[in-house]
Amino acid sequence: MLPCAALMFGIFAGIAAATNITIVNSCGETVWPAIFPAANGGELGGFELTENDYLTISLPDGYSGRIWPRTGCDAFGNCETGACQGGINCTSPAAGGPTLAQFTIDGYANFDYFGPSAVDGFNVPVAITPDYGAECNLGPVICTGQDEGEGCDETFACPTGIHYTVGFCHS
Ligand SMILES: *[C@@H]1O[C@H](CO)[C@@H](O)[C@H](O)[C@H]1NC(C)=O
Ligand SMILES: *[C@@H]1O[C@H](CO)[C@@H](O)[C@H](O)[C@H]1NC(C)=O
Repeated sequence: MLPCAALMFGIFAGIAAATNITIVNSCGETVWPAIFPAANGGELGGFELTENDYLTISLPDGYSGRIWPRTGCDAFGNCETGACQGGINCTSPAAGGPTLAQFTIDGYANFDYFGPSAVDGFNVPVAITPDYGAECNLGPVICTGQDEGEGCDETFACPTGIHYTVGFCHS
């Protein structure tokens, strides 16, 4: 009885386990978010996001990767900043330059580890906001410039299972 219940719970938890992240564009112009490795079961590597628009993506437990803004892209994915291989639907990390939102989902002991980073460069401000609540009482962490702002290259942790917002040009 007990092993069976435990097995069923394990299967259920495995199906349910995904972390949703809403990407918001506050830049006042179109940006092209990129995600590597790709989100949504490997199907979404990047997309166009118009001014004030948002899109929610899903990352599986054990995911480790980054989300970043590309600016000034054409239809082929040639961008002024943050360009990657694969065009708009990115299939590689950025060649260099953009601010990163780094995430490890369920990295250790049921915690996510995350932070905005300017270690590869800086293009626009990047904020990460875990949903506010008793589980993770942390406001937005915002990298506002190379080595400036809370969280440029600091790592934060929240319990796995909460929702995050990644804001480009968040103020
Ligand atoms: C993530 O979003 C999907 C689609 O809206 C929803 O079905 C799912 O329950 C969400 N997952 C979590 C952990 O909130
Ligand atoms: C994006 O690329 C992935 C593979 O990396 C593919 O599965 C998916 O269909 C592509 N999406 C679009 C819109 O082309």
